[in-house]
Amino acid sequence: MDALKYVLLLLALAKYSESANILYVVPFTAKSHFIMLRPIGLELARRGHNVTVITGNKEPNPPPNYHQIMVDKKEIWELIGAGGRPNVFSMVNVPAEKFHEGILWKGGIAFTELVLNSTEIKAFLAKDNKFDLVISEQFFQEALNLFAYKYNAPLVLVTTYGNCMRHNIITRNPLQLATVLQEFLDVRDPTSFWGRMRNLYFSMYEYIYWRYFYMEEQEQLVKKYLKDLPQPVPNLYDVERNASLILVNSHFSFDPPTAYLSNVVEIGGSHLSKSDAKLPENLQKVLDNAKHGVVYMNFGSNVRSSELPEDKKKAILNVFRRLKQTVLWKWEEDILENKPENLVVQKWMPQKEILSHPNIRLFVSHGGLIGTQEATFHGVPIVGVPIYADQYNNLLQVQNIGYGKILEYHEIDEETLYNRVNEVLTNDSYRKKAKEVSRRFRDRPLNALDTAMFWIEYVIRNNGADYIKNPALELSWVASNMLDVYAFILILVLGVVFTTVKILSIVLSLFKSKDSKKQKKKRS
Ligand SMILES: *[C@@H]1O[C@H](CO)[C@@H](O)[C@H](O)[C@H]1NC(C)=O
Ligand SMILES: *[C@@H]1O[C@H](CO)[C@@H](O)[C@H](O)[C@H]1NC(C)=O
Ligand SMILES: *[C@@H]1O[C@H](CO)[C@@H](O)[C@H](O)[C@H]1NC(C)=O
Ligand SMILES: *[C@@H]1O[C@H](CO)[C@@H](O)[C@H](O)[C@H]1NC(C)=O
Repeated sequence: MDALKYVLLLLALAKYSESANILYVVPFTAKSHFIMLRPIGLELARRGHNVTVITGNKEPNPPPNYHQIMVDKKEIWELIGAGGRPNVFSMVNVPAEKFHEGILWKGGIAFTELVLNSTEIKAFLAKDNKFDLVISEQFFQEALNLFAYKYNAPLVLVTTYGNCMRHNIITRNPLQLATVLQEFLDVRDPTSFWGRMRNLYFSMYEYIYWRYFYMEEQEQLVKKYLKDLPQPVPNLYDVERNASLILVNSHFSFDPPTAYLSNVVEIGGSHLSKSDAKLPENLQKVLDNAKHGVVYMNFGSNVRSSELPEDKKKAILNVFRRLKQTVLWKWEEDILENKPENLVVQKWMPQKEILSHPNIRLFVSHGGLIGTQEATFHGVPIVGVPIYADQYNNLLQVQNIGYGKILEYHEIDEETLYNRVNEVLTNDSYRKKAKEVSRRFRDRPLNALDTAMFWIEYVIRNNGADYIKNPALELSWVASNMLDVYAFILILVLGVVFTTVKILSIVLSLFKSKDSKKQKKKRS
């Protein structure tokens, strides 16, 4: 017994000696982001690292080696001067350009400023802390990546969505525009000629705006709030290019397979790897007792079902009434008139726990990536109503693979909704496909969260692992794309062709003039 204790103590010590000081910069308040990012911070702490988190979501019972620095409380809608929270359903018709200019870029600048101007964060930055690693969310908060420079630590970026143009540009990974669609661009047929044209156009527009206008504004925030850094302060674009590792929230079993450099690692589904939360008693009962199974409807944390227009709300309730299944719906108000017998509403739903229940038959969703991954992980078919951002693309993948159907928001009426729901419920092919994708989504050498842990600790162990960064980062854009060599070959080929044509035409004209002289002689 004593020997066992001794061994355990030694193991604990060994663990401790490897533990690192990690700064985890995930201030963005959106719930869906935090659902994915939270387990990474907690797992790092569980493994013995000293984790300091800059966050907008307070952890109620953190372990002692998990320190939280809070962002001042403010709604993103207030920050961008939208005059309060808009009805999210109105964003169905917003084109990708407007979504970036009005919300992502504008919101990104405002939110980054909120972080840098927050009381706790200012106090934290004034202290003399040391960090071995900075992990930062790759989501419109680029000025905060400069913490890696401040603490002279390697930088790891983590995203809550899949592959995107900016990851590829900063790591010099190939863009793959033919198969990798910009994450927030909805195109009905992405691989068609016009689909690819739209993707190219939008990616160029995004790149120019992001790099030359938006990043300039982030630089202004650096000048305003991070004054006492050792000079010369590197520019934010170079700091980002120097990231050791990018963790991407995708997986090839669901997302399109793509070429990735060694330091771009897919960790899609990491928030599901070690989740063991239980259902609350009332829901457990409802789900256990549902003889005909359960249809679960939730439009996500940002979308409020109660903001639905009256006719659509009525149509949805009528469809529920016609189903023999029990229905669970996230409904945010106190009252719901005309509630069908088989409908259970609640203001908040523990989603991944609900989706893990064997009686779930269908998920009616807005197609957010986190919810889509949860349904995928648990093998639940989807009827999806995309509203904005990456939702259409996530659902298009689901539909193409064959475990769900898209229902466009403007199509919602009783008949179309009933038909779509009924088809996915009654045709067994959707359920079978969902089970198959679930199996392959889990089929990995290491689960997603442990994959993230391995690579983060790999970067720590190897002092930033500079050697895994793409050597093409040292080359100019022209050289890394071989454009100078291609241009040279093109000029050479054109030169040869031109010279050959020229010589041929001279020779021909010589023959011609000889001929005409002969003819003249003959005539005379
Ligand atoms: C852990 O990080 C905090 C900063 O959040 C620091 O004050 C503390 O000294 C660190 N602990 C160790 C053991 O390094
Ligand atoms: C920064 O925070 C202070 C309060 O701590 C506030 O008075 C000031 O308006 C903020 N500045 C900006 C630009 O938000
Ligand atoms: C079920 O759905 C699949 C895929 O959409 C389709 O190919 C098949 O014909 C459907 N079967 C029936 C009986 O409707
Ligand atoms: C790039 O990151 C490495 C650690 O990975 C660091 O040693 C180096 O100073 C960084 N270079 C720049 C220009 O930030």
